[in-house]
Amino acid sequence: MTHLPTTPTDVLRDHAEHTYAHELSALAAADTHPRPPKWNLSPRAVLTYLLGGVAGDTEITPKYVGERRLMEVAVATLATDRALLLIGVPGTAKSWVSEHLAAAISGDSTLLVQGTAGTDESAIRYGWNYARLLAEGPSEAALVESPVMYAMRHGKIARLEELTRVQSDVQDTLITVLSEKTLPIPELRSEVQAQRGFNLIATANNRDKGVNELSSALKRRFNTVVLPVPDSLEDELNIVTRRVEQLGRSLGLPAVPPALEEVRRVVTVFRELRAGLTGDGKTKLKSPSGSLSTAEAISVVNQGLTLATHFGDGVLSARDVAASLVGAVIKDPVQDRAVWNEYLEIAIKKREGWKEFYTACREES
Ligand SMILES: Nc1ncnc2c1ncn2[C@@H]1O[C@H](COP(=O)(O)OP(=O)(O)O)[C@@H](O)[C@H]1O
Ligand SMILES: [Mg+2]
Repeated sequence: MTHLPTTPTDVLRDHAEHTYAHELSALAAADTHPRPPKWNLSPRAVLTYLLGGVAGDTEITPKYVGERRLMEVAVATLATDRALLLIGVPGTAKSWVSEHLAAAISGDSTLLVQGTAGTDESAIRYGWNYARLLAEGPSEAALVESPVMYAMRHGKIARLEELTRVQSDVQDTLITVLSEKTLPIPELRSEVQAQRGFNLIATANNRDKGVNELSSALKRRFNTVVLPVPDSLEDELNIVTRRVEQLGRSLGLPAVPPALEEVRRVVTVFRELRAGLTGDGKTKLKSPSGSLSTAEAISVVNQGLTLATHFGDGVLSARDVAASLVGAVIKDPVQDRAVWNEYLEIAIKKREGWKEFYTACREES
């Protein structure tokens, strides 16, 4: 009986600073460039960590695939007194880049506030341990610090996900933090002053635009970097294959390289439907309601590989991807289904070499 390979750790999803600990320490060892106060690496080494390269004789894998300049601006911003705002449509690696930046700069990507409509001030400032508060009154010991407060005290990078989902008045608590670099605690008549090295990375979704637009006072405290959808098919293919390989490893799937042809088909379908145009530019298409992001392409391939591993012959086939592809495209059972069926008929049916894929999709739809 054979067993699937096990991964070195049993945590389902390890933090970047652990997963890539060997890369980070190799980069630190080889780093000869000046480091901003409290940074684990120089900006240049952070960039190598993000985009890939070498450090001594250790290979550094690329985390972000895309324009170098964008990452330069993102890294440089964090060395200034402005905070970084990453915006883009869903699945453009905003959270992913934010995690890796925090890991590379502070060695800690866990100082995270998840923004929702219900996020209140205490999630950004501090709360109280009520048992202690009642017993002893307000005291330093009764205070429960937020990730942001912790980051300020220790000169680290804090992260705030989905900033525009947070209500405007709560968002504005950040203004004092980002402009005065201090967090007042009126109850104790004291304050926490940010240590050098503190900064904040926020992410926001383009599609949420208008939900809770940032006030202009807050906007001024941020440098904005827009993360685009991958430019070319090759770029996106590169991202998907890389991530699927990593995910497969952490899920303990055997290390068979995913059949590149099938992955290419998935990415092609995603790009064509997203653009509303076939790759050759000849046929107009309707776009389905979902965002069809790179992140979703990754999960389609990943799910297909899981099917192939456990129920197929271990090689990713058209049938394996079709099942989850259909689910990713058809989010609205009526409209999206019509869009999808039309796409199959006018764009896929006659396409050279796609017969098996077409048949598999037809069977699943
Ligand atoms: N340009 C890119 N480079 C590397 N990975 C990418 C890129 N775009 C998307 N991804 C992958 O897709 C996923 C994006 O997810 P996430 O960061 O949660 O997106 P967002 O926060 O923008 O909605 C990550 O797993 C990431 O690896
Ligand atoms: Mg995100």
